[in-house]
Amino acid sequence: MRVLGIETSCDETSAAVLDGSGDNAMLRSLVILSQDVHAIFGGVVPEIASRAHLTAIVPVVQRALREAGVDRFDAVAVTNAPGLVGALLVGVSYAKALAFARDVPVIGVHHMEGHLFATALEHPAAVPPFTALLVSGGHTLLLDVEAWGRYRVLGRTRDDAAGEAFDKVAKLLGLPYPGGPHLERLAAANQAAPFRFARPMLRRDQAAGDPDYYDFSFSGLKTAVLNAANGSADLEHDRGPLARAFQDALVETLVEKTGRAIRQFGRARVVLGGGVACNDALVGAMQERFAARGVEVFAPSARLATDNAAMIARAGLFRLERGDRSPLDLNAFATQPLPGLVAA
Ligand code: KG4
Ligand code: ZN
Repeated sequence: MRVLGIETSCDETSAAVLDGSGDNAMLRSLVILSQDVHAIFGGVVPEIASRAHLTAIVPVVQRALREAGVDRFDAVAVTNAPGLVGALLVGVSYAKALAFARDVPVIGVHHMEGHLFATALEHPAAVPPFTALLVSGGHTLLLDVEAWGRYRVLGRTRDDAAGEAFDKVAKLLGLPYPGGPHLERLAAANQAAPFRFARPMLRRDQAAGDPDYYDFSFSGLKTAVLNAANGSADLEHDRGPLARAFQDALVETLVEKTGRAIRQFGRARVVLGGGVACNDALVGAMQERFAARGVEVFAPSARLATDNAAMIARAGLFRLERGDRSPLDLNAFATQPLPGLVAA
C-alpha cells in the first residue's frame, strides 16, 4: 500500500510518501517546511502558523509526490490531533479534499502515535515490545508499548513538557528560540559546578504504584534556574554552568524514570521520540546507563525526531492495514487521548 502522509499540527508543513507494508514499509520521500517566522516572536503564533500552512500545503504535497516519482497513492494519512486546531484544520481539510477527489480513503492520525513510529522507519529493530519516551515541545510521555496499537501510559509531565523547559530556560539565559539545540551546545561546552539542581520528582522512596513514580515535573527546575540566574553576580560567566546544571538534572530524571519502566516491564529496547530526542547528552546517557543491562537504545535522526509527515504516514499505514478508515467529516482536535490505551 502507498500512503501519502500530511502533518500540520504545529509549525512545520510536511508531506511524505511511504510504500510497502507494516514494518517493511519504505520511505520514498519526505518534505519538511519549517516556519522560521516564529523565531521573531520567541514562540509559535497560532494564527501565523495556520496561514503559513495554507500557503505551503499544496507545493509541499506536490513536491513530496514529485520526489517520490509517483502520482498515485492508495490512502491519505493526516494528523488530526493533538495540536493547534487552526493549523491541524489546514492539513485535515486538504487531506479530505484530496482523498475525496482521488477516491481513496483518509485516516486521521494521532500525532503522538506518529512519534512512536518514527524511529522504526530508520531502525528495523525499533519495534515492539519496547519502553518509549516521547519528549517534545508539547509532550512528555513515558509508555510501555507491548505491540503497535497497545500503549500503556506510565508517566507524563504535570506542568511543562521537557522541550518547553529547554525553551524557557534557554530564553531566560538569553538564547534564541527554539532554545533546545542552543542550550545543548552551551551545556556541552561547560561543567555544571558550582551549580547543582534537585532532580525533579525523583526520590529513592518512590515505588511502582505511587502516582509520582513515573510522572515528571519541570516547572520547579525552571524556577530554580531562574532564581540562580537572578542571584548570579556574573551571569555572562554563569550562563554555561547553569545550562549544564539544568540539562544534567533534566536528563538524569528522564533516564532514571525510563530505567524504572524498563525494569518493571522487562523490556530490552528503549525508543526515543520527539524533538528533545535530538539531544546527544540525553541519548548518550540512556545508552551508557542501559548498555550494561543489555538494553538497546534507539533514537531517530533529527529529521524524524522533530515533527514530520513520514511518521504520520507510517502510523496511518498501521491503522489502514488494520482496516481503520476515517469518515469525510473527520475533524481536528487540540487534545485527544492516544488510541489503543491499555490500563496502566
Ligand atoms: O517534536 P518537536 O519538533 O515539536 C513538538 O511536537 O513540540 O519538538 C520541538 C522541541 C522544542 O522544544 C526544541 O527546543 C526541542 O524539541 N529540541 C531540543 C533539541 N532539539 C530540539 N531540546 C533539547 N536538545 C536538543 N538538541
Ligand atoms: Zn511533535
